[in-house]
Amino acid sequence: MTRHLITSALPYINGIKHLGNLVGSQLPADVYARFLRAKGDEVLFICATDEHGTPAELAAAKAGKDVADFCKDMWKIQSDIADGFGLSFDHFGRSSSPQNHALTQAFAAKLYENGLISEVDEEQVYSHTDGRYLPDRYVEGTCPNCAYENARGDQCENCTKQLDPTDLINPRSAISGSTELEVRATKHLYLKQSMMREKLQEWIDSKTDWPILTTSIAKKWLNDGDGLQDRSITRDLDWGVPVKRGDEPWPGMEGKVFYVWFDAPIEYIGATAEWAQANGKTDADWRSWWRNDEGAQNVRYTEFMAKDNIPFHTLSFPATIMGSEEPWKLVDYIKGFNWLLYEGGKFSTSQGRGVFMNQALELFPADYWRWWLISNAPEGSDSDFTWESFQGQVNKDLADVLGNFASRLTKFTRSKFGETLPDGGEDSELETKLREEVNARLVTLTKHLDAIELRKAASELRAIWALGNEYLQEAAPWSVFKTDPERAAAIVRMGFGLLDLYARISAPFIPHLSAQLAEVLNSNDTSWPSTLPHTPKAGTPFTVPENLVAKIDDETRDELIERFGGRD
Ligand code: 2FM
Ligand code: ZN
Repeated sequence: MTRHLITSALPYINGIKHLGNLVGSQLPADVYARFLRAKGDEVLFICATDEHGTPAELAAAKAGKDVADFCKDMWKIQSDIADGFGLSFDHFGRSSSPQNHALTQAFAAKLYENGLISEVDEEQVYSHTDGRYLPDRYVEGTCPNCAYENARGDQCENCTKQLDPTDLINPRSAISGSTELEVRATKHLYLKQSMMREKLQEWIDSKTDWPILTTSIAKKWLNDGDGLQDRSITRDLDWGVPVKRGDEPWPGMEGKVFYVWFDAPIEYIGATAEWAQANGKTDADWRSWWRNDEGAQNVRYTEFMAKDNIPFHTLSFPATIMGSEEPWKLVDYIKGFNWLLYEGGKFSTSQGRGVFMNQALELFPADYWRWWLISNAPEGSDSDFTWESFQGQVNKDLADVLGNFASRLTKFTRSKFGETLPDGGEDSELETKLREEVNARLVTLTKHLDAIELRKAASELRAIWALGNEYLQEAAPWSVFKTDPERAAAIVRMGFGLLDLYARISAPFIPHLSAQLAEVLNSNDTSWPSTLPHTPKAGTPFTVPENLVAKIDDETRDELIERFGGRD
């Protein structure tokens, strides 16, 4: 049995996330985690809120709350929404946890001991209008690399280059827009990433099975010359992990905190320690997932994230891990995603453009969203959410194909045979053909899920659902019943076998609907089948599922386009 550690990129605490955030990390990670659990592997699926940095401080100020209270409240909101979407985290932690503080400070101490941290007198942008230092992303300006005019001081989202605020051309405050900025002297810690170039290069080169999206971004910055510059890992902020060397104070760094991008990935480890504490486990339990000298050499670690996070996970975080010279686990596979667009444009948190996770759950059941998002996951390229496509796919795949199969079969069977599966009848060539087709497709579905090729997996699953309808259409138990009720009985039993299979293989994608399907035969087998199992026995009681999938009508679709803003 393989042990799988799975992490999803940590959502920022500053607000409720939109569907683009969901499909870029948490949802695909959940599909994979559910699939592996069904296969019988041991899975630890970890996520947490990313709570530090200026965005958290500003969002709290905007909400009129103390930042610690704001984070606590927003964590609960995000956690409830994650539950609503059926995201099956083993733990949803918080990067502000004591565990993460201690680990972050311990990593910094190790890196310092190993000569990988330098103290640098530097200059930082101070905004007179805002009365504060403006760290990283709150300085905006023109990217020196690609000339994009709205680059942020931490990273240009147009070309993904990691930046420092003072690199920007024509800088301005993102808080007030003021250009009355002054550069002041202050001391900061730098992580000497450049000293690790060779090790990182060797490591990335060894990852020949990674998606091209992931390795191309990593290689671009490794070979770019200044892509692996030494990075400042401290900030002049109040909220964050205080700069210390382990438990010891760090002379000259009083009042400063670690940069959010230094402590956030360490929270993958921190949240695992939180998981242990929350579940009455020992330190040895969580360390067995992370320390190669304590059991983690047998763990396969997979990370999920959108493409803007890739440089931090292929270069910066591995530099922290490698630089510690301690046997912490490095990631084995990174699944990266392109962007999900909204009606041809960008989702925008600041402009409220697109659909946010709380709104989505108020509108339709979680599985409608899960199904559309995974079927259209931006794997090979960007993909575009449109209400028309959403309506079309829910109505066609979930209602006409899957939902219709389940209701047609169960209603017909009840009307002709009562509420237990009928006896009699033999399988014919039709059933043999069906079994062969389903079994071949099951192999393909499993292969795509193993490879985390989610669009392909969803399309294979859809094809398996369609086989059910085609079978019923061809076998036509409603007409056969008139002349040969026994044969009709064999057909519906086969149909129930398919239904039970659907409940199991659809669960990673649409867990709520799958649970409703499993209830039909009161089945609690959630294991991943390698072939279509034996047809359920005659006499097995069943129920007719109510309201499986409600179609979305055109009027509703048009109202939603109107309400959320459609194509301009
Ligand atoms: O881009 C983001 O949303 C970040 N909050 C992701 C952090 S991932 C990890 F490193 F913590
Ligand atoms: Zn750029």
